[in-house]
Amino acid sequence: MTARTLANSHPSLLDLLSPGMSVLDVGCGPGTLTAEMAVLVAPGQVVGMDVNPEMIRLAEASVPSTGTPNLTFYTADIRTSEWSERFDLANAARVLQWLPDPVVAVRRMAKAVAPGALVVLLDCDHTRARWAGEPDAWARFFSAFLAWRAGAGLDNAITRQLPAVARSAGLGDVELRPQVTSVRAGEPDFFRVAGAWRMIAESRGRQMVAASYVTERQRRAALDALTDWMQGADASHTVHEVCVVARRPA
Ligand SMILES: C[S@@+](CC[C@H](N)C(=O)[O-])C[C@H]1O[C@@H](n2cnc3c(N)ncnc32)[C@H](O)[C@@H]1O
Repeated sequence: MTARTLANSHPSLLDLLSPGMSVLDVGCGPGTLTAEMAVLVAPGQVVGMDVNPEMIRLAEASVPSTGTPNLTFYTADIRTSEWSERFDLANAARVLQWLPDPVVAVRRMAKAVAPGALVVLLDCDHTRARWAGEPDAWARFFSAFLAWRAGAGLDNAITRQLPAVARSAGLGDVELRPQVTSVRAGEPDFFRVAGAWRMIAESRGRQMVAASYVTERQRRAALDALTDWMQGADASHTVHEVCVVARRPA
């Protein structure tokens, strides 16, 4: 996640952010994109929050020791956040896919922004991810990933629900911006995008083993197969995401 930039993984924010705006970045992860937002909106304030304290520790460690006066991080669950009419924009990138109750989170985001301000939701349609010539071990692991997510009540195609989620949270002026990323072996971004699945297999894969969706042996075989596949000259991978930009009624 630290190789992400707004240009390569959340370009909509480059149009939407301007100096002086205040921003809440929900599910900020290691804070890489959040820090870039703070540069764009300075002297406006940026708050990054994440439910995982380890992510917040990484985010805080990445801020220069001299500090970034307009950037702060804290650990919390957006579903219980108490922000009210405080921000010009609230963003959640690749977060709602991990929540069985995304409307609860988006309602809190809608409350956190001022009347007339923006809520931005970026997420992934896992059902449309494709690997050209994918190895069998990886295909089996990915099917198990989808089944594990569905079993946990998570929507594998949450992008299709995002407009309805935004409206249910009381937001209007809902605009959809499809974001398709295709990478081929040899391109500069190939290892960042395709390699992200190695991280999923390392982290979520262990949870899948614990929940008996795959064995540890299958998880390791999938990782090895994906790693070999990434060395191939013909490898290519496509990810389908959608960015929804919506507005709290004035
Ligand atoms: C895939 S990462 C995305 C990080 C970053 N937004 C990006 O696009 O690079 C999703 C993050 O959402 C966080 N998250 C999941 N549920 C959350 C919740 N209920 N409240 C706050 N953060 C949450 C996770 O801990 C994780 O760091």
